[in-house]
Order: sequence, then C-alpha cells, then structure tokens
Amino acid sequence: MNVANCLAQSTRLLTTSPTARLDAELLLAHVLNISREKLQVSFEHSLTSSQLRAMNEYVKRREKGEPIAYLVERCEFWSLDLCVMPGVLVPRPETEMLVEQALKYLSEDISCRVADLGTGSGAIALALAHERPSWKLVATDRSAVALALAQNNGRRLKLANIQYYLGEWCQALPDQKFDAIISNPPYISSDDLHLINLDVTFEPKSALFSDNNGLSDVQQICEQARAFLHPGGYLMIEHGFNQGAAARNIFKHTGYSSIVTYRDLANHERMTCARIL
Ligand SMILES: C[S@@+](CC[C@H](N)C(=O)[O-])C[C@H]1O[C@@H](n2cnc3c(N)ncnc32)[C@H](O)[C@@H]1O
Repeated sequence: MNVANCLAQSTRLLTTSPTARLDAELLLAHVLNISREKLQVSFEHSLTSSQLRAMNEYVKRREKGEPIAYLVERCEFWSLDLCVMPGVLVPRPETEMLVEQALKYLSEDISCRVADLGTGSGAIALALAHERPSWKLVATDRSAVALALAQNNGRRLKLANIQYYLGEWCQALPDQKFDAIISNPPYISSDDLHLINLDVTFEPKSALFSDNNGLSDVQQICEQARAFLHPGGYLMIEHGFNQGAAARNIFKHTGYSSIVTYRDLANHERMTCARIL
C-alpha cells in the first residue's frame, strides 16, 4: 500500500476523531520518521509490511481515544518541541496565556526568579527559560515521572537556567523568595467527570481533578505562595472557564491585591493574576 492509500484508509477508520485526516498524517509521519511536510510529497512511496502493521496499531489506539501526543510522544508548546508520555498531562494551547502574561508582567532586564508549580512536562518553565535566558526558573511537581520528563525536555532543549524539585506545591520550593509563582494546577471538579472528552480519560487524574468544586489546589497554592513571594511579587494561576469569580475570591481572602482575571481567545475567564504587598 502506498502513502496516499494508507492515509485515505486510516482517515476512514478514525471515525471518533474530529481531526481524522490530520491524525492520520501525524501518525504516518511518525511511523515513517519523516516530517508532515515530507509526507505530503511522498504519496507514491510504498509502505513496508512492518510500517503498515505499526500504522494499523496506532490507528486502533487513536480510535479508542488515546491522545495523538501520547502516540507520537511529542507535543508543541510555545513553539518548543516537547516529549510527552502517558502519566504526564499533555500541555494545552490555552496554557500559553500564562507564559504570555508572565512575560508582560515581569521585567526582561533583571534576573527574575520564577517558580512553575506542577510543571508536568515542563511546558511553562521551559517556555519562560527559553524566552528569558537571564531568569532563574524553578520547576516542581509531586509526580516523579513528570519531573523526570520535564528535566529531560530541559536537557534536550539545552535550557540550563532551570532547577527541578520534587514535592507538594510550595513545600517543594527551595528556601528562597520569588518574583513570580505560576501554576496550572488540577482544577476540574470530580463532579464534572462525565463532561470530559475521551482523550482526557487517558491522562492522569491527579493532574486534572481537584476537590472542592475543582478549587482545592488553587486555594492551597494561594495560601502557601505568599510566604515565597518577594513583596510586590506575582501569583498567576490558570483555572476553569467558570471559576473566575471563585478564584478572585480565593486570591482576595488569602491576602493578594491587584487581582485581575484574563480571558482566553474563546472569551472565557482562564487565568487570574495578583500581587502580594
Ligand atoms: C494540570 S497539570 C499541569 C502540567 C503543566 N504545568 C502543563 O501546564 O501542562 C497539573 C500538574 O500538577 C501536578 N500536581 C498535582 N497535585 C500536585 C501537588 N499537590 N503538588 C505538586 N504538584 C501537583 C500534577 O502532577 C501535574 O503535573
């Protein structure tokens, strides 16, 4: 079978994916170890039987809902090519907003010290370390698998301005003060389990779900972070699109000021930033 026919057949078989043709192209490019661009000019190329077997296997797994990023073991975040793996959350495009705001809020010139709590694959910390080589980043996670992956991504991207610490939220931090603490914590309410799509069921629940209507971890981070921020330091947290008011309330009651919520491209309240005085 050639590439064109394999793509057509795989696209037909991927009935549950809204992006069947794209998925087929990404999977076949991965199987052939070539770029998607190269795939587009290789339609007549014949697949070996082992390549065809591997492709059929990937299509079956994708049809069951396994995220493309886990299958191809790659994900792009902030234009960085990150390795991802089952057991660690696949970084989402909306989280790039935290990076964008951190770059706006903090001075480019000085050597800011910034912590990314619950770093997962390292997405936020790596993006900031890449954009601001003079900053000193600290990336933490309570998952040893996630932290090892973040560290590995940092090495692959040759980003040396990050230190990695294992542990629960601020307890993992070294005894230092930070100019900003940033986090994309778990924030889906366990009651909303039925609302999540198939892909998400393959991701670690500990990275997604939080007690108290999804706000337990936001609350813990707000309570703990103030002791680790310089006066005037910023706390920036991503939250659910319907959690803006509740998040502002938590920030207010845990002693932060200048509280602002930002909306994503879909006009949903997506992250809240505040300062400690
Ligand atoms: C929503 S994921 C975010 C991952 C990554 N920052 C991103 O945006 O792709 C939340 C992360 O927080 C970590 N986490 C959950 N509870 C934690 C806790 N109590 N202390 C430290 N990390 C925690 C999870 O292991 C997971 O990697």
